[in-house]
Amino acid sequence: MLTAHERAEGGALDSKSDRRATFDVAAIRADFPALDQEVHGKPLVYLDSAASAQKPRAVIAAMDSLYLHDYANVHRGVHELSQRATRRYEGARDRVRDFIGAGDSREIVFVRGTTEAVNLVAQSFVRPRLQPGDEILITGLEHHSNIVPWQLVAEATGAKLVVVAIDEHGAVSADEFAAKITERTRFASFAHISNSLGTVLPIEAMIAHAKKAGVSVMIDGAQAVPHRHVDVRALDVDFYAFSSHKMYGPSGIGALYGKASHLEAMPPYQGGGEMITKVSFEETVYNDIPHKFEAGTPNIGGAIGLGAAIDYLNGIDFDQLAAHEESLLAAATTQLVDLGGITVVGTAPEKAAVVGFVIDGVHPHDVGTILDREGVAVRAGHHCAQPVMDHFKVPATVRASFGCYNTMDDVVRLVAAVEVCREVFR
Ligand code: ALA
Repeated sequence: MLTAHERAEGGALDSKSDRRATFDVAAIRADFPALDQEVHGKPLVYLDSAASAQKPRAVIAAMDSLYLHDYANVHRGVHELSQRATRRYEGARDRVRDFIGAGDSREIVFVRGTTEAVNLVAQSFVRPRLQPGDEILITGLEHHSNIVPWQLVAEATGAKLVVVAIDEHGAVSADEFAAKITERTRFASFAHISNSLGTVLPIEAMIAHAKKAGVSVMIDGAQAVPHRHVDVRALDVDFYAFSSHKMYGPSGIGALYGKASHLEAMPPYQGGGEMITKVSFEETVYNDIPHKFEAGTPNIGGAIGLGAAIDYLNGIDFDQLAAHEESLLAAATTQLVDLGGITVVGTAPEKAAVVGFVIDGVHPHDVGTILDREGVAVRAGHHCAQPVMDHFKVPATVRASFGCYNTMDDVVRLVAAVEVCREVFR
């Protein structure tokens, strides 16, 4: 028999068509308890969702209900609690499948996050295919997690990393990407949206160029899934990865989509319990996908929280969300530039949810500290994208990033706090 929580989750799964008719940011804000607080005596303005987003009550409640009523290990017990936990865990996988338009839940591997997904694909899919002199193609705006795993496999195999340069705005050209594909290109991996610049990459055209040359592609979707509707089958992409914590779910969990034919052909990434069918000292038979890639007790609560975050996002119309976030981005960019003495870093024509900037003569860390005293939470630093900082010849930037709960009032508070900062350093 289904528990009350499972019935609630089942209902949520069926309610995809029941999207909110209008984008009601006040109602959305009310869903996020952490936003309703003061920091240093000022109402919190949370502009750091690109680093990690706040969590709605529904996500917290789903995880609470697991631990309060339904918790046990998954796939292992005949007893009732294990059955319930397993149904909820696998229900979360089905939600991920539908959320990104995959056709088959076996194509969804739960991972710790995008970083683990890239490492899994690098080690298990790409590394066995590499010979000395082969090339792995990335772009100049990648997060370190989409650079270092490729350097590791390149070092181990004698392959090399080829980088498609970004232009002075932080944009990537699909034509330049195509021009870098050679007969030695074995794999391409790039972001959907840049975490440090907000650039939206022309991934459809880039995937098409790669396909034409027979090159498999992985997309780092960590910054995209909270802002854009993603359909992996329409993209015809080989692998797509994202993290739960940036899309209003818990941290420590994410998902890797991989085409079933690839996942089936790949060796396991880690060995342990759960990923086997039969073990003897002579031989081990691996479990079917996706379990072959989920060694050990998984992050059960995390997966269920991710499922609840997907239900939450399914209640928001993504077109309206994107329009809302674009208006915040445009207002913040214009108002910051109008202050004078501020350079926006990352001005690609297609951008989403991120404004990075530097103030003349003030170190970004000082800006971040003063903004915090004004109640405004931003990230200051290299954003795990040091090559991007090198490209723009800055040590760091201040980054304000928007989520579904941000308002024009947040933009006003950001700009006022930046003015305070300039006063302090005048
Ligand atoms: N990748 C995260 C960021 O951009 C942590 O801040």
